[in-house]
Amino acid sequence: MKILVIGSGGREHALVWKLAQSPSVTQVYAIPGNPGMARLARCLPGTDYLAAAREVAADLTVVGPEAPLVSGVVDAFRAEGRQIIGPTAQAARLEGSKIFAKNFLWQRNIPTAAFVSADNPAEARAALDRFRLPVVLKEDGLAAGKGVRIAHERADAESALATLRYPLVIEEFLEGEEVSFIVFCDGRNVVPFEPTQDHKAVFDGDTGPNTGGMGAYCDSRILSDSLTRQILNTIIYPTVEATSFTGFLYAGLMLTGDGPKVLEFNVRMGDPETQPLMHRLDADFAAVLTGSGGLAWHAEPSVCVVMASGGYPGAFEAGKPIRGIEEAEAGGATVFHAGTRMGPQGLETAGGRVLGVTASGPDLAAAIGRSYAAVRKIAFAGAHYRTDIGRKGLKRYNKVGSGT
Ligand code: AMP
Ligand code: GLY
Repeated sequence: MKILVIGSGGREHALVWKLAQSPSVTQVYAIPGNPGMARLARCLPGTDYLAAAREVAADLTVVGPEAPLVSGVVDAFRAEGRQIIGPTAQAARLEGSKIFAKNFLWQRNIPTAAFVSADNPAEARAALDRFRLPVVLKEDGLAAGKGVRIAHERADAESALATLRYPLVIEEFLEGEEVSFIVFCDGRNVVPFEPTQDHKAVFDGDTGPNTGGMGAYCDSRILSDSLTRQILNTIIYPTVEATSFTGFLYAGLMLTGDGPKVLEFNVRMGDPETQPLMHRLDADFAAVLTGSGGLAWHAEPSVCVVMASGGYPGAFEAGKPIRGIEEAEAGGATVFHAGTRMGPQGLETAGGRVLGVTASGPDLAAAIGRSYAAVRKIAFAGAHYRTDIGRKGLKRYNKVGSGT
């Protein structure tokens, strides 16, 4: 089987890495790919995904990022009878428009924060009076994880109203722990992945502006069996059924005192959640995607630490030479490329999130230790990363004891 993966980030490198291990896969292609993927897949130029799938006679295409899904790549492939994993453009509105998603959730009584939408600053200011502080302000459209502001003071909220793109969603602030809950839907079955936890803020202790994700870990203990069932019954099944969802549905959840509530839907796998998920997956992923095999997991938790360019999530410079990846991998970690490219002197930075350094270990503490040992072997000018990825999990398990 020949598989084409659409995308160029760390998530897609992790998908390519896992798919390349499947006995039934003879060739993996990536469009456009990156230098990490190029070691495992043939990278194709351009952005005409359908033409690329035709040219290489791909048996199956897997879509990484949201933008092509929202613009209808799945509909275009299916119109030609080509196999592709992802939702239709219609179902992809769950991610493409936060106002659509919030109305969808409220109409079906699926738990989420109270909200109003506003088309202009005057409406938004009037709506603000209906919320207590802190309050959350979100752009309606796709914003790569950066269109959300949490305002603790009225003045912060006012200044966000002046800078964000309209229309906006204004919503109640939810307190609790965040979980990324991802399922694979093939049109008949809903197959949940293990739970993961992302770290969205740029600095340690969840401080600083939000990013696309600075690191994630995967550990079964993030959710109890009963919480998992509750999430499936109250959130996932009603959503999949109402949208005839196919592909990966990712519910960003807050575990509140009132139970799990939806913060957002994504209609694809998470980045960086996919990196620790693929690392932990103990199954033939191509078989899972074609419905001929089930999911199974290594017991060992996995951790991915993102190394970012200086300045990210604001402006950053590219073109910094990257060293030490081989040494990091020699110690057992897997280094997934995100924003990298080949320059005249070899591998260099090319994006905000540059690498996802991923490792597993007999327990979460060991997995964290191995990831950071690998991170410390890698260097590029301006590199920064959080030093507390996974620590929330450690604290929770130490408090409640293992296995609960
Ligand atoms: P979103 O893109 O909607 O997931 O928002 C990005 C991040 O902002 C989430 O991962 C949360 O950390 C935070 N966030 C979003 N909505 C809320 C909310 N209603 N209450 C508290 N935090 C939120
Ligand atoms: N890690 C957050 C996202 O993929 O949207």
